[in-house]
Amino acid sequence: MGGSSWPSQAQLERIREIVSEMSGRDREQVRVVASPYRICPLGAHIDHQGGTVSAMAINRGILLGFVPSGDNQVILRSGQFKGGVRFRIDEVSCPMNNVKDASKRDEESNWGSYARGAVYALQSRKACLVQGIIGYICGTEGMDSSGISSSAAVGVAYLMALENANNLLVSPEENIEYDRLIENEFRGLRNGILDQSAILLSSYGSLLCMNCKTKEHKLIHPPKLGKKHKTEWQEAYKILLAFSGLKQALTENSGYNRRVRECQEAATVLLRASGNGAAEPVLSNVELDAYHTHKHLLEPNLAKRAEHYFSENMRVIKGLEAWASGKFKDFGTLITESGLSSIQNYECGSKPLIQLREIVLRAPGVFGARFSGAGFRGCCVALVDANFAAEAASFVREEYSKLRPDLVPQLNQEHVVVICEAGDCARVI
Ligand code: GLA
Repeated sequence: MGGSSWPSQAQLERIREIVSEMSGRDREQVRVVASPYRICPLGAHIDHQGGTVSAMAINRGILLGFVPSGDNQVILRSGQFKGGVRFRIDEVSCPMNNVKDASKRDEESNWGSYARGAVYALQSRKACLVQGIIGYICGTEGMDSSGISSSAAVGVAYLMALENANNLLVSPEENIEYDRLIENEFRGLRNGILDQSAILLSSYGSLLCMNCKTKEHKLIHPPKLGKKHKTEWQEAYKILLAFSGLKQALTENSGYNRRVRECQEAATVLLRASGNGAAEPVLSNVELDAYHTHKHLLEPNLAKRAEHYFSENMRVIKGLEAWASGKFKDFGTLITESGLSSIQNYECGSKPLIQLREIVLRAPGVFGARFSGAGFRGCCVALVDANFAAEAASFVREEYSKLRPDLVPQLNQEHVVVICEAGDCARVI
């Protein structure tokens, strides 16, 4: 661990104070889960197909202060959302299995559903929950619903708090699976395991490489710098996040699940053509040679999805090499190419995000940029030379404000562009 300026002592104190008031317990008894947001510089939209992705936690995220409730109640308040959430751990059922509840799913996509989802995930794998939590959750201001995985950070935070309160020892790998259950089964989003893997496995200064098919992962460090260098690699670059002002939950946007389906349709055609029709229809089951031999069979939109998958996997491989040799400019160029493929092949960038990406790419010191997350809302992420980060931020703020006066007022001015750094994985403090 190291280098993490988040969370600050003041943030922790404030949360302990609130939970102490809510529960009537001493502040010293309040534990806090710090669950970071993440970026995925390379490896976009291929996790759900079993591709290899790169990711990194940042030094911003979700804080969940909690105490064990001592009974079967979960009682929650939020820093971002109104109203309290209260339910019993023995009354949670999956809304996707229940027609009556499923019709309430939009309503249920309120912030409380992640806590219910965490209880559901743990119980569906027979984890023994004997008590709930009394907790207060809050995210870094202005950064919710922005394509930096606030939802996975929230899911992981509830899982870790419930596990801690119930003395359950759970590995990061098991929590990756639990969070998958929250998203895929409880919320009905057919996403992959990129987000929670980044949140649970990152380590400050390294890039996480995750094979989403085999679940093998490793942390990649740039090479050691000689003594004559005054700075470390992680001080050489900053992470710039530029927010579009578009916010909408992915489950409310059928575009995400539609793209997943299209990738599977492309996989089905390619697997059948290569005599492998019995394999699970995901693109990672298609050999590269088989893709090249049979891609002419794909309808134009399916051909584009497959092209994104195979070219993105290649960019990840090249990017990992560039990162391991400290070639941030080369790494940045690949990020930019990845962003272009998201627009042209995966066809998921909404207009404001595409415009924002173009602005970010013109900013001084930017090595490369793409939109973050699924690409239907949220922010653009860029790797920027640390010496130019402040200048790049003002440039983007000014240009985007001129171009999108309709969206910028929806953002707090300080949060149009945020400069942050790499961070550590989720932990209980
Ligand atoms: C969202 C999903 C992830 C991943 C990214 C795009 O964050 O939750 O599983 O597909 O989009 O790379």
